[in-house]
Amino acid sequence: MTDPTSPIPAKPSISQEFSRRQFTRLAGLLGTGVSFSQLFPTAQARTPTGEAGQTNATTYIDKNEYWTGPLPQAAQAAQKEILSGNRYDPAHLHEDFLQTVASVEHVPVDRILVWQGSMDPLIRSVAAFASPERGLVTVDPTFEVPWKVAKYLNIPVHRAPLTAAENYATSTRALLKANPKAGLYYVCSPNNPTGTSTPLDEIRWLLDNKPADAVVLVDEAYIHFTTNPSALSLLRERRDLLILRTFSKLFGMAGLRVGLSFAHPDLHQRMMRYDGEAATRLINVSALAGAKESLLLPDQIRKRRDDMTAVREAVEQHLTKRGIPVLPGSQANMIMVDWKRPAAEVAEAFEKNGVIIGRNWPIWPNVSRITIGSAEEMQLFNRQVDRIFRT
Ligand SMILES: Cc1ncc(COP(=O)(O)O)c(C=O)c1O
Repeated sequence: MTDPTSPIPAKPSISQEFSRRQFTRLAGLLGTGVSFSQLFPTAQARTPTGEAGQTNATTYIDKNEYWTGPLPQAAQAAQKEILSGNRYDPAHLHEDFLQTVASVEHVPVDRILVWQGSMDPLIRSVAAFASPERGLVTVDPTFEVPWKVAKYLNIPVHRAPLTAAENYATSTRALLKANPKAGLYYVCSPNNPTGTSTPLDEIRWLLDNKPADAVVLVDEAYIHFTTNPSALSLLRERRDLLILRTFSKLFGMAGLRVGLSFAHPDLHQRMMRYDGEAATRLINVSALAGAKESLLLPDQIRKRRDDMTAVREAVEQHLTKRGIPVLPGSQANMIMVDWKRPAAEVAEAFEKNGVIIGRNWPIWPNVSRITIGSAEEMQLFNRQVDRIFRT
């Protein structure tokens, strides 16, 4: 393995450490989930009501989940493990899974951790690498969890707005300009909610130009939906790069909770406070078996990506034909639709007819995120578009 050349980001100074009270709140957030729904209201169950008042929702295209469950062979592998679920991990699935990830992704196994989804390491990374003195930088719009955690811990957030001039892609130069002295630069690629990818050169530029002790986090929750290269290839040379993955999207395992983080062991070590060890060790064996099997099915991964892309393009065409602008450049299972009127009102109109569409971001109040569902679900969505925007 080549010697990492990048510096190890320093531990935060005492003044950058959070107060006991803040960490107690963070620990609560990570460990118990008690404050989770307060922090992340979108995670709460919704009970849509129809015009007559009864629940009639049938189509959920709001949370970027894949429209169907795990890959069939992955589901079988998970089911098989349930039968030996009386034991903790008799087949050493935890190690086996990490070895599989290492060989499929060509990453040394000492740089990989598995979590119950990627939300936990995402929350931890904000607490570990940003601070009230060394803030967080992201584009806007992006996945809001890092913003919310930062707010919770009094960490300043700088946001670089995505622009039409840049085709809504992340400019890492704009990120650095927004705060040249941040502790954590968050790059979601493909970005939730725009689906736009950040080229490897942009990420490399940020790594080379940010403060030496800052960390770059590349959130690759949607990476399997695109053919753009992952940032994993940069991992061998960098000690200041954290990459997150999840099985919640293309692999259809959101409820089963498996996520991955990739980083130099020293960087990982800094994320371990507040029961990090337990959070990375006690993973449901059935979910691990399903996740492992999923990684070994490249043809089916490709098929899911192609199926989704075909449906996405059909929806984009339908909206465009109707004169409703779709933001360009999505390479993931979501599109941003500019209704030219308040997105909240449009979402309500869909909900009345049983279609739950995604949220909007404050920066673009007329734009909704639409998750790409199955062909049938999106035909229903198209029919509702025709109904709501009847002229
Ligand atoms: C960009 C991004 N990162 C992380 C997550 C967290 O996913 P999970 O905790 O299910 O792995 C999500 C979920 O929507 C996401 O969109």
